[in-house]
Amino acid sequence: MPALSLEVENLSAGYGPTRVLEGISFTVPAGARLAVLGRNGMGKTTLLATLAGQTRRYQGQIHLGGSDVTAAPSAMRAHRGLGYVPQTRCVFPTLTVEENLFVGLKARSKTALEEAYAMFPRLKERRRNLGNQLSGGEQQMLSTARTILGRPSVLLLDEPLEGLAPVICEELMAAFTELAKSGDMTILLVEQRIQSALDFADRVIILERGRVAWTGTPSDLSKDHEAVESLLGVGGLH
Ligand SMILES: Nc1ncnc2c1ncn2[C@@H]1O[C@H](COP(=O)(O)OP(=O)(O)OP(=O)(O)O)[C@@H](O)[C@H]1O
Ligand SMILES: [Mg+2]
Repeated sequence: MPALSLEVENLSAGYGPTRVLEGISFTVPAGARLAVLGRNGMGKTTLLATLAGQTRRYQGQIHLGGSDVTAAPSAMRAHRGLGYVPQTRCVFPTLTVEENLFVGLKARSKTALEEAYAMFPRLKERRRNLGNQLSGGEQQMLSTARTILGRPSVLLLDEPLEGLAPVICEELMAAFTELAKSGDMTILLVEQRIQSALDFADRVIILERGRVAWTGTPSDLSKDHEAVESLLGVGGLH
């Protein structure tokens, strides 16, 4: 499937009566790479979960590749090409790595599997291990690899680098960049490692208390010291 655009218009959502997101609007063209930044608790996970159809929506619209998926349940959004790697990893403890990779897939493509293993050689070494025999970082890789194996048109990644060693982070970011460059995937990346996210992305939004507080390119952001300090709480970027 080719990459699809994602349009979000005036979206408000939360959990039961708790409103977390208010009036969120942004567009990601097909094949683009958006970094979603913000301090802890500002609504980044809630935004991705809302795009995946897993929260309560109060108002607003979501378009995937030009078609309205606002009312579509999560399974339908996944079917339309939305892939979501949640911040809380989902690994089945009693299945092997390879069985975990194929959960939810209709066809077992050997080529796609080899591509996933090329991206995560560590998973190939451990392919016969059970989910509960993996380290935190390996579970992380498995969760990401499984979603990529489903060849989504729009990929939502919630802190994919959390808990991974620096050398693996670099490899993983390079692999995500390749996926996006191939033109087959639009990628939304939530990351606390700000520099890695900015090196990867071609556009950025920053959330502050559930609203979009800043929008621009990575190079605009590295020049906007005030936004970096007040919205991200860091002294500066390289
Ligand atoms: N299931 C839930 N029910 C009620 N409130 C929730 C729930 N999950 C998150 N929240 C609240 O929504 C707000 C945004 O949380 P969210 O997880 O989206 O933040 P985040 O930006 O992803 O933070 P972090 O960087 O720590 O992952 C927080 O105030 C949080 O307490
Ligand atoms: Mg989060």
